[in-house]
Amino acid sequence: MTMSPKLPRRSVCAAALALVVVGSAWGQAWPTRPITLVVPFAAGGPTDIVARALSVPMGKALGQTVIIENKVGAGGTVAATLVSRANPDGYTFLIHHNGMATAPALYRKLAYNPLTDFEYVSQVIDVPMTLVARKDLPAKTLPELLSYLKAHGDKVNLAHAGLGAVSHLCGMVFRQAVGVDLTTVPYSGTGPAMAALLGGQVDLLCDQTTQTVPQIKAGAVRFYGVTTAQRIKALPDAPTLAEQGLKGFEVMVWHGIYAPKGTPREALDKMNSALRTALKDPTVTTRMAELGAEQVPESKLTADGLRSWLKQEIERWGPVIRSAGVYAD
Ligand code: MLT
Repeated sequence: MTMSPKLPRRSVCAAALALVVVGSAWGQAWPTRPITLVVPFAAGGPTDIVARALSVPMGKALGQTVIIENKVGAGGTVAATLVSRANPDGYTFLIHHNGMATAPALYRKLAYNPLTDFEYVSQVIDVPMTLVARKDLPAKTLPELLSYLKAHGDKVNLAHAGLGAVSHLCGMVFRQAVGVDLTTVPYSGTGPAMAALLGGQVDLLCDQTTQTVPQIKAGAVRFYGVTTAQRIKALPDAPTLAEQGLKGFEVMVWHGIYAPKGTPREALDKMNSALRTALKDPTVTTRMAELGAEQVPESKLTADGLRSWLKQEIERWGPVIRSAGVYAD
């Protein structure tokens, strides 16, 4: 028989009471003030569009405002570093995409480990990409673009949102598929990159449908195809790049919500539940469907679903990036 160490009865009661008080403060009161959701790219771009669309119904479900803070730089790694070091008090979260999985191979001196320095809330939504160009680029179709690049590739530039951005990743896959070494021009997000494309300062951009669908529908950009395996509902007549001969060209953007390591479980669980509520909100479902975003299955809307997907993606992209020899010191 094991014996408990003998404690004076009064101190046992005091300790039990303290536990109950701490537990109920977390269980019932969180959140007592606004929550910050950090977006790693510029305001007005695709990640920001998803974050802001969700922030209102999430705030409603939580009874507190969800404030979006754009912390840009180094393809999303500035924001991820800040969040990995933030106070794990349940008031700071990060929304990030594939960049969370590609950064370990791209950055030799990454200040965080995506698999050990965070808590995981859930995957969020998937977003296809599109290849677009400035409206007055002479090439009107993908075959014309490929010929144009063969003849003028050294003068054509491709905008992106930094090493670790999906626009960079997609551009890298495209350059490999067509065998042309384009000049790349980095921006703090594809919001400013799209502004530069519309202003004719850059030639090409591989960007998410959440930003490109309105520009494509308005005829403000040239459009060559979608990066997914299948055609998408938001642009039903648009061919995929793969069906036009760019074999194996498949890029889909996935998102996750993270928190600093040590964030209390109650905050993570309530954020997860608020996210699920927001994803069913008609304002979100309608807008996201119009912009080509796709809901993810229930099994991915969990902390474990996000962490195991992140691990798979790190294992998928690490060798591809290392063999391409692309990295930052
Ligand atoms: C953005 O929000 O600007 C994009 O997600 C950047 C990118 O990864 O291409």
